[in-house]
Amino acid sequence: MTPARVIRTTAELESLLGEGPLESRVEPRHILMCTPDYFDVVDVKNAFMHGNIGSVDRLKAREQWDALARAFESAGHEVLTLPGVEGCEDMVFAANQVLPGMGDDGRPYVVPSHMRHPSRRREVPAIRAWFEERGYRILELPESVPYFEGQGDAIWHPGRRLLWGGYGQRTAVEAYEALSELIETPVVVLELVHPSFYHLDTAFCALSEDAVLVYPAAFSDEGMALIRRGFDRVIEASEPEATSGFACNAHVLDGRTVVIQSGSPEVVAALRANGFDIVEVETGEFIKSGGSVFCMKMMVY
Ligand code: ARG
Repeated sequence: MTPARVIRTTAELESLLGEGPLESRVEPRHILMCTPDYFDVVDVKNAFMHGNIGSVDRLKAREQWDALARAFESAGHEVLTLPGVEGCEDMVFAANQVLPGMGDDGRPYVVPSHMRHPSRRREVPAIRAWFEERGYRILELPESVPYFEGQGDAIWHPGRRLLWGGYGQRTAVEAYEALSELIETPVVVLELVHPSFYHLDTAFCALSEDAVLVYPAAFSDEGMALIRRGFDRVIEASEPEATSGFACNAHVLDGRTVVIQSGSPEVVAALRANGFDIVEVETGEFIKSGGSVFCMKMMVY
């Protein structure tokens, strides 16, 4: 079994990888989405939200959300839905409220988030209850963990029992010490150094066991070195495609089909050259709030 630990340097990652192949991990196949009934931009929680208060076109948002769900379904994945809760304008970003994983006993678990913003803390109970009803074990982080934003910052290495953990804006680095112990999993931590890239999933998309899509300016030099050690193929997004295009917030299904916001031709060409199929979608109404494909769903067992 791979021991719990937090990895901050390439030397530490080297030593973990030198101990033998990482334990494999069952990937979840289903997709949970939260309906956008109450989706809105009412304040500015991240750089993408500037200038967008009150600008959401609800009808358009609903059409984009439906089309995204259909794109997931046509790639062969069942989409489960949870109704949005009134007063929770960001709940549609279903990647953030928990981190799901598979326990050693074959029973899945979720680790509920400690959201940074009070308005988003209100979302967690409904999502937690949804998982509890489905028999998930609830694993709580200690109260002392100030912030942790679930799958927005903690991203599983495809097929392996290893997490990549972004920190700096929405997750405190200390959260990973506690998380690593709680779920007995090593976590490679990456500081998010660019003010716009507030969640790991805005700048890092794990494509397959050996390939990742990143926006390098979001990471420190040490962070990029860790990413290059962890993945043989590193596809880099340019500044315009990572920023206006939101390209790194893509999601890959079955290690093959990349669902991505449309408008990033260079990233799309690089993904195709690396053997990935592409499904382009339009999530412009949600980008006004700083979220796109990856944030709008949670992979569940
Ligand atoms: N407006 C939301 C927030 O700032 C967007 C969250 C997007 N989610 C994500 N995983 N990046 O919290």
